[in-house]
Amino acid sequence: MPEPIGADRDGGGSAVIGHVVLVGLMGSGKTTVGKKVASLLAVSFVDADVEIEARTGRTVAEWFAEGEAAFRAAEADLLAELLAAPEPSVVGSGGGVVVTERNRRLLASPAVTTVYLHAPARFLATRARARPHRPLLSGDPETVLSTMYAERNAWYREVADAVVEVRPAHEAAEKPKWRLAQQVVEALVDVGVVDASVAQSPDATAPSEVRP
Ligand code: S3P
Repeated sequence: MPEPIGADRDGGGSAVIGHVVLVGLMGSGKTTVGKKVASLLAVSFVDADVEIEARTGRTVAEWFAEGEAAFRAAEADLLAELLAAPEPSVVGSGGGVVVTERNRRLLASPAVTTVYLHAPARFLATRARARPHRPLLSGDPETVLSTMYAERNAWYREVADAVVEVRPAHEAAEKPKWRLAQQVVEALVDVGVVDASVAQSPDATAPSEVRP
């Protein structure tokens, strides 16, 4: 187990204290919402899948071709490295980050703030697009995502400091990704890692659930 990350929660001059990780199934918006959250907080955004490819010189598809275990090991090494960085960041994790126990321990650690972008599998199946970095999304998306949901939903909730519902924003808002980003920031305020002045927005009213 590495040293606790930023255990003093000292974010220096940044708007957020410590790293923020977005978790959730494929199609939940971790990358697009995460980029917006990072821009609202003026910190850098890291997409875990993109970063694995950049750091290892192998695509996610190539990792999977070697076997899912190889990919999961690379994914876990990367997460530990990202969360050990001294500067706060927003990390868009891969959907399967929670299947690895050492990732769950890191994500649940008090020095990291984890936000679960939750939506039902049926809804996500209408959004998740087949991509080269998603070899597991072959076949019927709803079947694949339902199986993943059954396996992972409890893990996401176990590690999350806050849960943000994705579907209502898509149904209600003109710019759902911005609304979701705003909700994530509000959840970070509720958790106590972001100052309330950052979250002020007239239409940021959709519900978010915060773990007590
Ligand atoms: C995976 C999700 C993908 C990628 C890989 C495995 C999963 O990331 O890490 O294909 O197991 O759910 P996204 O959730 O960013 O698509």
